[in-house]
Amino acid sequence: MRPVIIAANWKMNTTPADAGELAATIAARTEEPGVIRVICPPYVCLAAVRDALAGKNVAVGAQNVHHEQAGAYTGEISASMLAGLATWVIIGHSERRRDEFESDELIGKKLARAIGAGLRPILCVGEVLAEREAGRAVEVVATQLRGALAGKDVEALTAAGFVIAYEPVWAIGTGRTASSADAAAMAEAIRSTLAADLGWGRLAEDVPVLYGGSVTSANIGEFLGEHSIDGGLVGGASLKPDEMAGMVARAAMTAKARAGAEGEPA
Ligand code: PGA
Repeated sequence: MRPVIIAANWKMNTTPADAGELAATIAARTEEPGVIRVICPPYVCLAAVRDALAGKNVAVGAQNVHHEQAGAYTGEISASMLAGLATWVIIGHSERRRDEFESDELIGKKLARAIGAGLRPILCVGEVLAEREAGRAVEVVATQLRGALAGKDVEALTAAGFVIAYEPVWAIGTGRTASSADAAAMAEAIRSTLAADLGWGRLAEDVPVLYGGSVTSANIGEFLGEHSIDGGLVGGASLKPDEMAGMVARAAMTAKARAGAEGEPA
């Protein structure tokens, strides 16, 4: 049974002075059984959020990591530097693909560094609007997956709890979402690409696929109602405790339903 995950991507918001309090408030408002909660603040807020979440069963994630271990890379942060600060990391977010020109190959190197350092990666994939409208969304996402994952150690990735977030670029921060049917179809296509093209076989079924792109407490139920979708990667709404409370409460319903279905006799 795949876990249900709500991951908060705070992007370039909060400061070391206020991030801890926000994280603690969210933790207190989202104490629901069965849901994995992750908060990904900016690097400079990681320590404050870690301290605020101590003993609270909410994981801390970074929003990016460098593909090298150490060296002359001004302004960068390596996977090993995150030890003790974060246990998860977002990799290949579309804002970094767009603004920092991250390629699938580079993203693949980051993934390898992340799992090498014991971090649990969330790999982001997704098409832009023109690609969706041209009927090329599945092909684009499959290309991203092949580019980042070809030749990677499947066992190591799955052992690290590797997660994929399907985030259609045109839905991020726009208030517009994919339909739940389209998102579910993409989640299925992602697992088929892993299973068939990349040779992951049955292990592909165990990979959680999250939906991201303008997720709120009002619409998350549509996505969680789809069996192939295992939670959300949430940007804007994740900075609001009320929204986080609503989303995690809805996710807990899905987690409970799944646990119940699993427990039923065949
Ligand atoms: P959004 O961002 O929820 O603000 O659309 C999602 C993301 O980029 O991860």
